[in-house]
Amino acid sequence: MGENLVPRPFLKWAGGKTQLVDELLQHMPAYFINYHEPFVGGGAFFFKLYRAGKIHHATISDINAELIDTYIAIRDHVSDVIRLLGSFPHDKDFYYRLRAQNPFELDLPQRAARMIYLNKTGYNGLYRVNRQGQFNVPFGRYKSPQYCDKENLYAVSQALRHIKIICAPFETVLERAQPGDLVYFDPPYVPLSPTSNFTSYHANGFSVEDQKRLRDVCIELTKQNVNVMVSNSNVSTIRALYTSSQFIIDEVQANRAINCNGERRGKLTELIITNYPLEERAQRRILDQRAPLTAPYASV
Ligand SMILES: C[S@@+](CC[C@H](N)C(=O)[O-])C[C@H]1O[C@@H](n2cnc3c(N)ncnc32)[C@H](O)[C@@H]1O
Repeated sequence: MGENLVPRPFLKWAGGKTQLVDELLQHMPAYFINYHEPFVGGGAFFFKLYRAGKIHHATISDINAELIDTYIAIRDHVSDVIRLLGSFPHDKDFYYRLRAQNPFELDLPQRAARMIYLNKTGYNGLYRVNRQGQFNVPFGRYKSPQYCDKENLYAVSQALRHIKIICAPFETVLERAQPGDLVYFDPPYVPLSPTSNFTSYHANGFSVEDQKRLRDVCIELTKQNVNVMVSNSNVSTIRALYTSSQFIIDEVQANRAINCNGERRGKLTELIITNYPLEERAQRRILDQRAPLTAPYASV
């Protein structure tokens, strides 16, 4: 099973890039060798690339061990994961019993089934752990959540068959990327304003210092002739970090939830930063943004 099926993200993930994937696709380099995604999360762009036939050799990674184990379990033990999910009832008591288990005392398929079930039935699909690292999201109010999407899980397993899946901090990509490769970074975003509750300043422990370390990794990769694409929020802190001749900063429309409840949605702009020239359409938009309002594009 899974041959000819189209894989889609199997988890709801904060900061998921579903709304931005078409823009990201337009910002890809014309040619690259291996693909690396060091903040893979729910993998919206990875699965988009796979569906577009652009993934051949790839490494996906993230610092979240439970998430990475779930990818590995789906790749290597998909039937066991599906069998477990199929046996789980949609029930509040069951949810809290499963939540109370220590995922690292479970085997790989059990750990993955627990993660998928809690993610799909928990409140708003949040992944949140307390200081002890225990998942602490309450039971959600869904009528009939789709936590055992057999077809998609088989399709995902198929898509991951030849993919390297690693639990590691983002900077280790420097050890793996080769000249001609493409690295796509989608870090936890900095807040839109100091009072914004869209994400905390240290979302996933990711501070402005970490954003600077990420920029430095991009500079190092540029020296090694590796293609780099970064998505981030359109805030002055991030613009300032990438303002140098080696990066092109493009502002694109995004349609994402802007508060943690996902209730208010609005058109925001986000940044896509690359270290290689963009194809003509994206180039033209950047020139349009820079041009004075009255000047026709042709004269810029
Ligand atoms: C914005 S989310 C990525 C969303 C993803 N693009 C998607 O479509 O779902 C950021 C991810 O970075 C991971 N992360 C946070 N700090 C990290 C670090 N230092 N190194 C690697 N991954 C990290 C988080 O676990 C999270 O999955």
